Amino acid sequence: MLIPLILSGGSGTRLWPISRRNMPKQFLALAGQGTLFQQTIARTRQLPDVAAPIVVASEDHRFLAAEQLLEAGIEDGTLVLEPVARNTAPAIALGALEAIKRDPDALLLVLPADHMIGDTQTFAAAVAQALPLAMEGWLATFGIRPDRAETGFGYIRRGAALGAHGFQVERFVEKPDLATAQDYLADGSYDWNSGMFLFKAARYLEELEQHAPAMLATVRAAHASAHADLDFVRVDKDAFAKVPDDSIDYAVMEKTTRAAVIPVSCAWSDIGSWSALWLAGEHDSDGNLREGDTLVVNTHNSLLRSHERHLVATVGVDDLVVVTTPDATLVAHRDAAQDVKKIVEQLKAAG
Ligand code: GDD
Ligand code: MG
Repeated sequence: MLIPLILSGGSGTRLWPISRRNMPKQFLALAGQGTLFQQTIARTRQLPDVAAPIVVASEDHRFLAAEQLLEAGIEDGTLVLEPVARNTAPAIALGALEAIKRDPDALLLVLPADHMIGDTQTFAAAVAQALPLAMEGWLATFGIRPDRAETGFGYIRRGAALGAHGFQVERFVEKPDLATAQDYLADGSYDWNSGMFLFKAARYLEELEQHAPAMLATVRAAHASAHADLDFVRVDKDAFAKVPDDSIDYAVMEKTTRAAVIPVSCAWSDIGSWSALWLAGEHDSDGNLREGDTLVVNTHNSLLRSHERHLVATVGVDDLVVVTTPDATLVAHRDAAQDVKKIVEQLKAAG
């Protein structure tokens, strides 16, 4: 059984002021049809013989996630609620334990809820290529050819070929510093980790047992004390608070000897920041990405987003991000878009 596991627990602070604590980016319609979360679900529906998804999300967003699942036509999905965020390794472990309840041999297709993928058919073909490897016990990743020295991604060095399907991972390096990322780009044998994975749920738990036993034990305890409530699987707060915080990339992928990479060549974007959204979007002839009521004179390579009937007008500026909402306006340089999260930190500190 192939079960999509949708990771939907991120808070998307770099997309402030659109993405807010109560309405993080995956639940927003930022580009394309529906929200990023719904687009992720819709992509899984194109896969042959696919089961209903398991969604792991924050308890705070339970109604958003439930409503958007229903809108996407999913009535038999499982919605696992985390009382506190412990990053992706524990979230995937919760999903794996749920999956094994459905089928001990379940294959998990782990998908972040906030990515944009240009071509669903290429994505489906890559999943089909990864399936035999995952069934043999490999932890399959999907590699994207890098076109810049991005430090926000994991880098995968291809090793020996595994039949016609993919390659063994020789090295997995999560979020290298800039100099290292530049070396990897120049080297040419590294792919970006797309953040999507395919493996047997049981194999993932074995890897945790080996590389992060305390995490596995605490997640198991938290999962054992979870209870069903309406359509939700609620995890106990005290139990889950004991789980160590780590990502799958650091906890498992950097350490395992059984990782494989399937190269994927389709438009792919982790919509992490306003600059990433600008990069992924459709530009006018001056390189501007404009949404809502906007007027531009001599403006280039900028992202302008207006709220309802609030007109955003720019004159003689380049490389800007201007985003308005009813209660906040962001003006940022496109190159500094990663630092928008610092505004959110200041807002949090101010209460
Ligand atoms: N349920 C749950 N709980 N989901 C979470 C949590 C959590 O505590 N933390 C993050 N997520 C979700 C996010 O919403 C996102 O969809 C996904 O898990 C990945 O988390 P990110 O925080 O966005 O990771 P990243 O972008 O920094 O890095 C990962 O993705 C890159 C590609 O986009 C890594 O896998 C990198 O290696 C990879 O290159
Ligand atoms: Mg991300």
